[in-house]
Amino acid sequence: MKLAILSRAPQAYSTQRLRTAAQQRGHDVKVLNTLRFGIDLSGPEPDLQYRGRQLSDYDAILPRIGNSITYFGTAVVRQFEQMDVYTPNTANGITNARDKLRATQILSRHGIGMPATTFVRNRADLRPAIERVGGAPVVIKLLEGTQGIGVILAPEVKVAEAIIETLHSTKQNVLIQSFITESRGRDIRALVVGDRVVAAMRRVASGDEFRSNVHRGGTVEPVELSADYEQTAVRSAQIMGLKVAGVDMLEGNEGPLVMEVNSSPGLQGIETATNLDVAGAIIDYIANQVAFPEIDVRQRLTVSTGYGVAELVVHGAADLVGKTLGESGLWDRDITVLTLHRGTTVIPNPRKGVVLEAEDRMLCFGKLEEMRSMIPERRRRRQKVRRLPKEPIPAPVEAAAS
Ligand SMILES: Nc1ncnc2c1ncn2[C@@H]1O[C@H](COP(=O)(O)OP(=O)(O)O)[C@@H](O)[C@H]1O
Ligand SMILES: [Mg+2]
Repeated sequence: MKLAILSRAPQAYSTQRLRTAAQQRGHDVKVLNTLRFGIDLSGPEPDLQYRGRQLSDYDAILPRIGNSITYFGTAVVRQFEQMDVYTPNTANGITNARDKLRATQILSRHGIGMPATTFVRNRADLRPAIERVGGAPVVIKLLEGTQGIGVILAPEVKVAEAIIETLHSTKQNVLIQSFITESRGRDIRALVVGDRVVAAMRRVASGDEFRSNVHRGGTVEPVELSADYEQTAVRSAQIMGLKVAGVDMLEGNEGPLVMEVNSSPGLQGIETATNLDVAGAIIDYIANQVAFPEIDVRQRLTVSTGYGVAELVVHGAADLVGKTLGESGLWDRDITVLTLHRGTTVIPNPRKGVVLEAEDRMLCFGKLEEMRSMIPERRRRRQKVRRLPKEPIPAPVEAAAS
């Protein structure tokens, strides 16, 4: 394949290793400076310039977009996507991961363990927010920090308030997070490629530092992950939309707590700690997937009028429990089941013989009118208003008289 590594640091360890791994496998690889692209929307089709000239054809890109150029970098990646060039990490995925709040929001509905987190803006809401995550000591984070910079441990509520107010006054947004004491300055970095963890290490903070980042003096050691850590890492990367990711987890008393998902994970620390060819695994994965450029499935499937995608839940009205998919009648109603979610497992392309169980969730493509009656009620948090009593409230006597 012809591969472009998008990077502003051709000499960096990670870039060098990726380039070498690609060359060793007989691929045609170039390192292109992300900032030298020109996004060209002047012609009949989306195009790209590089250093002022039309870019030649590539089969795949591997974006390594630094934090300082997220906007331009993701625009370039998005342009490659529009041109049907394969990328393991999409512009969307990179954007999702880059902002710690956005990442936490997206992961929060999927049952991924995370440190308790809040985000507020008004001064009056600060104290309740700090209390909600368990009070001091509390961790304060800049939304787009990296390498441990912008992660502060505040020992007291008063100090936390002062720090957050100061940051707010300089227009910095911060999130407030419970301090996971039991992790004791250690965390786990799992390198996810595709659907598996290819390497993992434990990072240990130096001295009395609580941040275990290598850039903050942390040391690394290889670690054998248990199944729950592996699954959490892989699912987090999948949910974010990243096929190459470094997932950082704290070791909580109840299991893994995801802190962040990195879309351009550094390779030096993890390859040194584990002696594993992570760069090679990334290149092999891309070569294997290159025929499948990203497709915005929902958008593509919604272009036929009256058809769309919906998630249907097996229960109640349609009375599907115990029936096979073949007997369900969905097919006759012009509804195709793409995937079936049962608890935490997913059955892709479920066959006609699959027996439906209560609370199965089916991702379907079909006629919107047919699916409407089967769409579950929107999840409600709690009842905010009381239901009216069954018997009508008697009208006031005067009103009735007039
Ligand atoms: N809630 C927390 N409790 C305990 N330690 C934390 C917490 N959040 C972060 N840390 C420590 O600080 C380090 C940096 O935090 P992280 O959110 O990964 O920011 P960065 O993007 O700067 O690496 C982590 O690797 C971990 O060692
Ligand atoms: Mg980190």
